[in-house]
Amino acid sequence: MRGKQTDLIRKEVSKCLLCHNAKCSRFCHSADPARIIRALYFLNTDAAADMIKEMPEDEQLEEACAACPGKVDIRSVLSWLLELKPNLEGVSGADNVDLSCDICGVPLENPFVLSSSVVASNYEMCSRAFEMGWAGVCFKTISLIDIHEASPRFSAVRSPSGKWYGFKNIEQLSDHSLEENLECFRRLKEKYPEKVIIASIMGRNEEEWEYLSRKVTEAGADVVECNFSCPNMEAKGTGSDVGQDPETVKRYSEAAKRGTHLPVLAKMTPNITDMRLPARAALEGGADGIAAINTIKSVTGVNIDTLVPQPSVRGRSMLGGYSGPAVKPIALRFISEMAKDDVIKGHHLSGMGGVENWRDALEFILLGAGSIQITTAVMEYGYRIIDDLTLGLRIYMAQRDYRRISEFVGAALDSLVENDEVERDTVVYPVINEELCNGCGRCYISCRDGGHQAVIFHEDTGKVSINGKNCVGCQLCSLVCPARAITGSRRVPLRKG
Ligand SMILES: Cc1cc2nc3c(=O)[nH]c(=O)nc-3n(C[C@H](O)[C@H](O)[C@H](O)COP(=O)(O)O)c2cc1C
Repeated sequence: MRGKQTDLIRKEVSKCLLCHNAKCSRFCHSADPARIIRALYFLNTDAAADMIKEMPEDEQLEEACAACPGKVDIRSVLSWLLELKPNLEGVSGADNVDLSCDICGVPLENPFVLSSSVVASNYEMCSRAFEMGWAGVCFKTISLIDIHEASPRFSAVRSPSGKWYGFKNIEQLSDHSLEENLECFRRLKEKYPEKVIIASIMGRNEEEWEYLSRKVTEAGADVVECNFSCPNMEAKGTGSDVGQDPETVKRYSEAAKRGTHLPVLAKMTPNITDMRLPARAALEGGADGIAAINTIKSVTGVNIDTLVPQPSVRGRSMLGGYSGPAVKPIALRFISEMAKDDVIKGHHLSGMGGVENWRDALEFILLGAGSIQITTAVMEYGYRIIDDLTLGLRIYMAQRDYRRISEFVGAALDSLVENDEVERDTVVYPVINEELCNGCGRCYISCRDGGHQAVIFHEDTGKVSINGKNCVGCQLCSLVCPARAITGSRRVPLRKG
């Protein structure tokens, strides 16, 4: 039942347009539907339940629902939520949870930092992000290169609900002058001494790396991040070209280190088979920690009328950096590999790539990240996602009695083992819940054409059963079941023959 309500809520909430100054909340005085739905959108069910102080009156709900441009059935969402959490049992102790952590000894009030990009590219933006609760910013990469950008420069791959699944950009570095950017650092540090400024830099030779590193240090940065990873550079031998060559990574890390006494992070490119090699080289060159991942070289699609890949800049396009939810599994892979590496483990890992909500962030932390950086979700939803990132993480920690983030950094690493260490002698067979099964037959089709022909479809009743002789326990059927009617049996020895 709980699964069903959760599904209903998810489906309804996915229609929400996440409006600015939402009309629903203006009509509803005894609850803040926009905030509650936003919490649900970002997987904060406990927090959302805690936000309903009382069920709004019918009249208010009617007006709120009528005003909603996304046509969300707000009344039903609130009722399902109350069924799911009847006691409004929220969040006891969550307010007192301490989210503080650090990057190489530099204290952060929470693990969330804007990653280097357009989202942290001037004083006003960083200042607003700080006011809203972000612990730090990694400022848009600063260089001595004369930057000209293309227009348009983005394209998105969307899920059926319209949200971005993946995002491609062909942007390079900051196009503000060095002095302008340094002045932002000075002003930010003066106004927000407790917040963390990470200065992302990129040089074209050792002199430039050392020079930029010195300049940002003098201007008040707390950490230096070396951009060895932008895949969009016009100039050959910069950006991800550097990150693919451990020897150059080492030399440039040494140069950046010569210019500063601050901790240095080396930001890695995922456009490489084994990230551990350049990461080890960066540490050998004196870097204190690793940031990953930058964007993945991609083509997000081709316009089939004009025959030009996206985005089209006067009829031409280029490979560009892919980011957002689609890259999270790849980012998690790189973070976990580095966290398990004998040379790299123990150094700070700043994880990024597809983080939108507290669960995504938590997964990075469980696989070894000590801080989290975010761009694409901020571009899609705004700085306000910080509310649900911090709240969700607080609730998780309160429920588990964790006192410090450091207690669970890397806690999932031991269960991620080598291919030959996964047990292959027992099986979890599917169990079909007849009541929940709606007879759609999706499990039958998938098993017949993509599995082991173990699902039997009974034409007369529209129900399914399992042919135990054919079933190998792959659980494809439960993954495709839209009614969540298939679960796993207890683990049993593999039936042979
Ligand atoms: C529009 C855009 C501009 C970016 N610019 C930079 C940059 O200047 N320097 C840098 O190190 N990374 C840059 N990135 C990469 C992000 O910092 C981040 O590594 C990547 O997008 C993955 O995180 P995400 O999925 O949260 O966006 C940029 C990403 C985007 C989408």
